[in-house]
Amino acid sequence: MAEELKIAQGGKNERYDLLYRQVVSLIEAESDEIANMANVAAMIHYTFDNLWTGFYRVVGDELILGPFQGPLACSRIAYGKGVCGAAWQRAKTLVIPDVELFPGHIACSSLSRSEIVVPLYRDGRVVAVLDIDSNEVGTYDDIDRLWLERIVALL
Ligand code: SME
Repeated sequence: MAEELKIAQGGKNERYDLLYRQVVSLIEAESDEIANMANVAAMIHYTFDNLWTGFYRVVGDELILGPFQGPLACSRIAYGKGVCGAAWQRAKTLVIPDVELFPGHIACSSLSRSEIVVPLYRDGRVVAVLDIDSNEVGTYDDIDRLWLERIVALL
């Protein structure tokens, strides 16, 4: 079996390892941040078959929708609101195993059951967040957090 096919059929770590290397190549070849966010969202989305994968950018005192894959989403999220606004406010990754147990969760899709939000920093400040949603409870864990933080740090 070809090496890449074995990896594609492998576990989470193997998939992230391949994805990480693909993102490194992508970013070496392109410097435009929005283009890279768009391709990174697509790569993550189709590697893991998420419900929704995308970025919100910090613009003034709110988050505005950026490049994404998946169904229609909320365009703007206020500071501290929802999982995305909370990850921005706390400047840390939030892994939410059951969105119904997160007070203030913003349900852009009624199918969303679990979520992970990873901040992107420039000069120590949060400038965007990567938001990923699953239609199953408990999809994301520390493996996702560690790899997604590494991937987002490349942007
Ligand atoms: N659930 C997010 C809102 C964004 S959508 O999931 C795409 C939140 O609570 O911030």
